[in-house]
Amino acid sequence: MHTPSLTVVVLAAGIGSRMKSTKPKVLQNVCGRTLLEWVLESARQLAPQQILIVVGPDQPQIQKTLESQHDLQFGVQAERKGTGHALQQVFKQITSEQILVLCGDTPLLLVDDLKKLWQKHQHEGNWATLLSARTAHPYGYGRIVRNNQQVIGIVEEKDASEEQRKLSEINTGIYLFRHQALQQYLFQLQANNRQKEYYLTDMIALLVQHQQLVGVQVADDFSFYQGVNSFAQLAQVRKIAQQKILMQHMDAGVDIVDPQNTYIDVQVKIGANTQILPFCVIAGSVEIGEYCEIGPFTHLRSGTVLEEGAEIGNFTEVKKSRIGKKTKAKHLSYLGDAVIGERVNIGAGTITANYDGKRKSVTTIDDDAFIGSGTTLVAPVQIGKNALTGANSVVTKSVPDHTIVVGVPAKILRKKN
Ligand code: UD1
Ligand code: CA
Repeated sequence: MHTPSLTVVVLAAGIGSRMKSTKPKVLQNVCGRTLLEWVLESARQLAPQQILIVVGPDQPQIQKTLESQHDLQFGVQAERKGTGHALQQVFKQITSEQILVLCGDTPLLLVDDLKKLWQKHQHEGNWATLLSARTAHPYGYGRIVRNNQQVIGIVEEKDASEEQRKLSEINTGIYLFRHQALQQYLFQLQANNRQKEYYLTDMIALLVQHQQLVGVQVADDFSFYQGVNSFAQLAQVRKIAQQKILMQHMDAGVDIVDPQNTYIDVQVKIGANTQILPFCVIAGSVEIGEYCEIGPFTHLRSGTVLEEGAEIGNFTEVKKSRIGKKTKAKHLSYLGDAVIGERVNIGAGTITANYDGKRKSVTTIDDDAFIGSGTTLVAPVQIGKNALTGANSVVTKSVPDHTIVVGVPAKILRKKN
């Protein structure tokens, strides 16, 4: 059977006025990824021939954040006149037989649902197939209007009658169209509604009126189709995405003691048999080996690698550092731009002073070193193997192997036995 080619169009030109933010809405962050990138991740799993993103004229940041992703094409909607108008702006750029429209503000969408939508659309030979969902709280969404089971249109919250507002089946904003449907009808949309916009949703009634086949796939779970229009909705979506990420780690053998109070970005890798105690924030690309112990109250930031059996405890922040096997930093430390060997003990209150106001510098601590409580390591600096720094020392010069230093600035006391 011939598999038709697919173009995915992601609508992302909205200004997100309900957020009152200067940042484009689709660039808001959910667990380490922008809303738009979540949508793109899912879109790519359908192996489309083309991905087209509709952006506004004043949103260069969007293209900038995606410039390394060469499978993406962009179209500009110069004036924001609605979702139908947005699709009109890129219609000429479309190269495929079938078009999947996604919204840049609906990041949790499930690839399985998209696949079911695609199958139904093909199987029924529809001109358009839309993805709907049922919810007890449909406020704000377009409602699916049916007549004897058959869909006849979508009505927006603002245009809906009292009766229609009670309908619990909502439009997820996700649709499949065959090229011909857009070619013949997309430019017939009218802006005669409350918002004076060209609604893409009106395509459904338009196609039905012209006796073209339209179908509906109902998603099992509405929660994955919440659109992000406000910071409150962003928080809800984050919660769902976060629980999903934590669930995957737990399934892979990570002991997350309190999933309600643990924040782990989507890029983070964690080995089995590692335990994460409550109130940790693990952000960006962080790799944690097996048998580590993290937390409580630990902040791990991008570029951090913890090798097997490392222990990072409360009120310790680690940024862009490698921590060797069985090394411990259990209390009140900042480790930034550090390369730390195996079995090192980092005393409470140790600080790597990695920034001199202009440049970031590296601190190296070799295997079996012992860093006394309250040590400040003024980078660039190296602490040799099995060396020891006294409590509250300020280390400004590198320390040879097997050597004890003390004081401010730290001076050699003696060699270790
Ligand atoms: C839209 C749907 C609604 C559906 C809901 C699902 C319409 C008219 N309404 O409403 O039926 O239930 O999504 O979440 O389509 N956009 C543009 N250009 C524009 C306007 C919007 O690119 O001129 C983009 C936005 O960036 C956003 C998406 O289209 O990603 C949806 O727009 P939004 O204003 O959020 O529509 P909703 O009111 O949520
Ligand atoms: Ca929306």
